[in-house]
Order: sequence, then structure tokens, then C-alpha cells
Amino acid sequence: MSTKRLRVLVLICSTRPHALGPTVGSWLTETLAPTSRTLDVDLVPVALADLQLPFLDEEEHPSHGVYRHEHTQRWSKTVAAADGFIVVTPEYNHGMPATLKNALGYLSAEWAWKPVGFVSYGNTSAGTRAVQHAKQVTTTLRLVPLGSTVALRIADALRQDRFQPAAHLARAAVDMLEELARVTQALAPLRQYGQATPGPLPGSYAHRLRPEHEPQVTVLQRCCWVEEAIANNTLQIPALHETPGQVREWLTDWHTTGLWHSGRLLGMVRTIRHGSELHIGRLAVAPDLRGRGLG
Ligand SMILES: Cc1cc2nc3c(=O)[nH]c(=O)nc-3n(C[C@H](O)[C@H](O)[C@H](O)COP(=O)(O)O)c2cc1C
Repeated sequence: MSTKRLRVLVLICSTRPHALGPTVGSWLTETLAPTSRTLDVDLVPVALADLQLPFLDEEEHPSHGVYRHEHTQRWSKTVAAADGFIVVTPEYNHGMPATLKNALGYLSAEWAWKPVGFVSYGNTSAGTRAVQHAKQVTTTLRLVPLGSTVALRIADALRQDRFQPAAHLARAAVDMLEELARVTQALAPLRQYGQATPGPLPGSYAHRLRPEHEPQVTVLQRCCWVEEAIANNTLQIPALHETPGQVREWLTDWHTTGLWHSGRLLGMVRTIRHGSELHIGRLAVAPDLRGRGLG
């Protein structure tokens, strides 16, 4: 598990003048505010109308990641920085709106292995056909749709012209955010695998460790330096009693590389440059994996 705050984009898909979409989006973010605080989730509303994305006008296939236009580069950065998505979508002619299809199709790797929840709205079907339609496309992009959904029938949610969905729909929204937070954490190894250097064991991968990896680093180093403590009959070994704050501090200052497999930290080594000297330390391999040449 990472201790990093999660950044979840709430994508408001309708772009029509006087659309209902922004009202649904505001209801959602207000409803989820207490839960998002508890779960350390930053909910970031993004109106597709504000992105100024024309119909896909990039020459290269998005999987190449070569974006010529400023609007694509901006959208790419926004999506890449997100950990997950909640799509607030109307149903148009039994499908998703073209704005959503277009915004999805602009990018590729930026979406991969991130969860997506759907809040749909419409008439009798409460927008559910738009969600089914969108799932076909999102799974191709390696987005992972949540089982929890929130489906709003407009006629039921509007009370004396105020948008006030029933309490069970607010609970469904909270359930969805909780599921999204769990799935985001569970998918972290797949996201990291795609961005990391392959490691020496099949399926292992290496990448720089950051302060949010402190829990795994603390566990690894305590496991690794126990034998040294026993052999030398001393506990005066910093790796055994550093506080989480101290570990986060050196993870900021040192360049530390971690070797991972399926979300487990198998080993690490840290380096720091002082003038012309490069210092290397804290070479650690999980005790059960010693003797395989990982170090
Ligand atoms: C082009 C268009 C197609 C629509 N098709 C459907 C539909 O298939 N099913 C449905 O339940 N409502 C449909 N509606 C009604 C919408 O659910 C309703 O207008 C809703 O407010 C649209 O969301 P928006 O205001 O955020 O754009 C359609 C509306 C429009 C404008």
C-alpha cells in the first residue's frame, strides 16, 4: 500500500448549454466530500467542455504518445497525473456522448490500469446503456471499470426543480468511491510495471522509491538488518529504529532504487552524490530471496 493521496478526476461529459451534467457533478462532489477526506482522495472536477478538444486531430496513433497539439499535451498531462476517474455521463441515443468517446480516444497509456467509476443519468434506463457502451471502450484502454455504479433517473432526482437524489443513491456514490480507492491501490503494481525497468527475476521491475514507499522500506530494512543485530549483539543499527519520518526524509534526499514483484518490495539500494563522490548504501534483499544474485 502506498500512503500517497489519490487524485481522482470527476469527468463531466455533457457539453450542451444548460446541461444537467454540471449539477450532477456538483451533487456528486458534495456528497463525497466527507468520504474523500477520510480516504485521502482529492476529487478534481474536470468539465470536458473546458478542454477545448476538437474531434481527434492527432496524426499518430495515441499508443505512440507523440502529441503535436497543445490541447492533447495538456489533456495527456491531466490524465497521466490522475490515479482514477469517475465519469459523470448522460445517455444520448442509448449510448455514451461523443464528447466522452472523443476524450477517451485521444490518449492511450495515460489511462492504463486505473479504475473508472460511472455516475449515469437519463430517463427510464437512468443512463445505464451509456455506461455499458463506455465499458466496451474503456476496457480496451486498460481502464478498469468498477462494479459499483450510480444510476440516476432524472425524473426521480428532480424535486420541485431541485436536484436531490434519494439517500440510497448518495450511499451508492460513497460505496463507489471506497471501491475506487481499494482498486486504485490494488492496481498500483500493474501501473508501476508499465513504467519501470524490468528486473532480474521474471515479472520483477525496478524504479525509484519515493517518500510514499516508506511503509514497504521500513518493513524491508527491519527484516534485513535483524541478522546483523543478532550477529553483532547490538541494536545500534539505524535501519532498525528509524522512524517513518526519518525514512521519508532520506527517501527524499537519496536516490533509492527499489526492486519489486507484484507490489512487494524485494530489495533496494540507495545512492547520494557529495561533490565528486558517489556514496552507495542500504543494499538490502528480502531474507527469503538471498543467494539469487539480486543484490
Ligand atoms: C441528443 C440527446 C439524446 C438523448 N438520448 C437519450 C437516451 O437515449 N436515453 C435517455 O434516457 N435520455 C436521453 N436523452 C435525454 C437526456 O437524458 C436528458 O436530456 C439529459 O438532461 C441529458 O444530459 P445533459 O443535460 O447533461 O446533456 C437524450 C438527450 C439528448 C440531448
